[in-house]
Amino acid sequence: MKNVIIKIVGLILMVVSFIAYVAKADAFPIASENLVPWSVWFTIAVLVNMVVWFPVMKLVSFSIGIIWFYAFIAGLMPDTSTASGTLESLDWDDPEGVAEIGEGIFNTKGQCAACHTLDTSAPKGRCPDLSDIGAIAASRQPGVSSKQYLIESLYEPAKYLVPGYGKIMPEVWKNPIALTQLEIEAVIAFLQSKGGDIDPTPFDEPINRADADTTTVALEPLLTGEIEKGKEVFIDTACVSCHAVQGVENPQAGDENVDFEVVTAPELSDVAAVYEMRYIEESILLPHKEILPGYGKVTITAQGIIYDGTLVSQDEEKIVVKTKADDGTETEHTIRLSDIDEEPITDLSNLLEKGYFTITITPAGSDTPISGEIVDEDADTVTVKVGEETQIVSKTDVKKQMTLIDYSDVETVGEHVSGTRDDAEIVMIVDGVEESFDPFDIQDVITAFAKGRKLYERSPMPDNFPDLLSVKDLANLLAFLSSLTGATATEETTTEDVGEVISE
Ligand code: HEC
Ligand code: HEC
Repeated sequence: MKNVIIKIVGLILMVVSFIAYVAKADAFPIASENLVPWSVWFTIAVLVNMVVWFPVMKLVSFSIGIIWFYAFIAGLMPDTSTASGTLESLDWDDPEGVAEIGEGIFNTKGQCAACHTLDTSAPKGRCPDLSDIGAIAASRQPGVSSKQYLIESLYEPAKYLVPGYGKIMPEVWKNPIALTQLEIEAVIAFLQSKGGDIDPTPFDEPINRADADTTTVALEPLLTGEIEKGKEVFIDTACVSCHAVQGVENPQAGDENVDFEVVTAPELSDVAAVYEMRYIEESILLPHKEILPGYGKVTITAQGIIYDGTLVSQDEEKIVVKTKADDGTETEHTIRLSDIDEEPITDLSNLLEKGYFTITITPAGSDTPISGEIVDEDADTVTVKVGEETQIVSKTDVKKQMTLIDYSDVETVGEHVSGTRDDAEIVMIVDGVEESFDPFDIQDVITAFAKGRKLYERSPMPDNFPDLLSVKDLANLLAFLSSLTGATATEETTTEDVGEVISE
């Protein structure tokens, strides 16, 4: 009778432990310590059955045990199809194979896929799409090769920020991702294979690994944040001192702010109902890119008077600027664009972006300056509308204007002929006469290539949020902002679906 019970218990244990093992059930009796995992129970059951049963059942139990044992050993083997094993060498005779290993790392240990897409049709997110990175990398930074650019992107991602993106990419050689040099080499081969050629040349790491921790930890999901924590960020980073949101108190109300000037700003109570999250994110990371009409700041000099205030409106001929006196009284000034004073242009790059709308420039071989409205520009030329015609002027072949300031603050302006402060003399044509100056007597030198009128509008919003906010703070802040739909003043505390909203 006792024997029968043992036989039946043995059989039941074998069946139950086998099912539990296959179903990856927690260990029994103490799951948290992984005490006696089901594989051990199963082994015990097989042994018991082999002892207590009649010969045929012994044989059956033994066979099941052997089959299971082989499956168990096979399960212990590292799965070579994912990149979870340690990489010991790369076979550069097979660059495609290396790129494939890199792809595995991209999707697993590297956690790159948590942020980056490899699909041009994917919605534009917080991180650049890398479908054509092999082709793009070569032209990202002048003078920096494709491989070098990718090396820097992975080791020091903050060095060359892709315009329009925040400083959120982790240094992937460090904790928590902790890729080894070989793994990074493989990832670079994979990135180069996306639209470019794989360059197998070895490189030296531009970093010092000596004090970097190397344990891998899973990253927090990027696109999820907590609304309540985001509300704290909104208050702590002082967004609330300029922006009103229904139901959010400003603890510093009335105090003086030392970090920035508090200004009138749009209320954000329904900002998520009006804008896409991408726009909202950009407002925080790149505040000067798009400015809400009527809120931008300008500083201009017109007929010698400096106006520092808010740009109220603008048309083809004039602008209206509102200034605020120390006692708080506000005045609106209407200023004709042609009355704005010309100022020296010391750097001819990105003129339109800097707000220049007219230019006066003298080509190297000529004595007559060209003066007119800037209609277009590229890296080497600027297109100027003079009367009814347009003229394309080189940015490199221009006559330089030089202003020398001596120690008595006397300024001499002339056309530069030769010499800099580091030479024995500076020669300029002043009022048609060539003159020589001793750099020793000169306090400051300003070299200008042209003159122009400029209207540069900037957002009053501080532009250091990308540096101030951690990835987590920003995710939480965006979660909070995404909850501002103006629906009710009662706060929701669920974080469900926030990720989807943000990735729109
Ligand atoms: C937490 C999100 C995040 C993770 C994880 C991440 N990146 Fe990035 N990555 C970014 C962001 C944001 C940028 C753009 C800003 C910049 O240049 O740093 C970027 C930029 C890049 C660029 C430059 C792209 C260009 O168009 O010039 C490359 C290359 C790149 N990442 C590769 C990787 C690889 C490979 C991994 C994984 C090993 C990775 N990233 C992991 C967020 C991330
Ligand atoms: C110094 C005052 C100031 C601070 C501080 C400030 N902002 Fe702004 N913000 C403005 C002004 C003014 C505008 C409108 C001009 C513009 O579009 O840049 C604006 C625009 C915005 C917009 C776009 C609103 C729209 O209707 O187009 C968003 C979103 C925004 N801010 C969010 C924030 C967040 C989040 C913070 C805190 C991290 C913050 N702001 C901090 C002044 C401020």
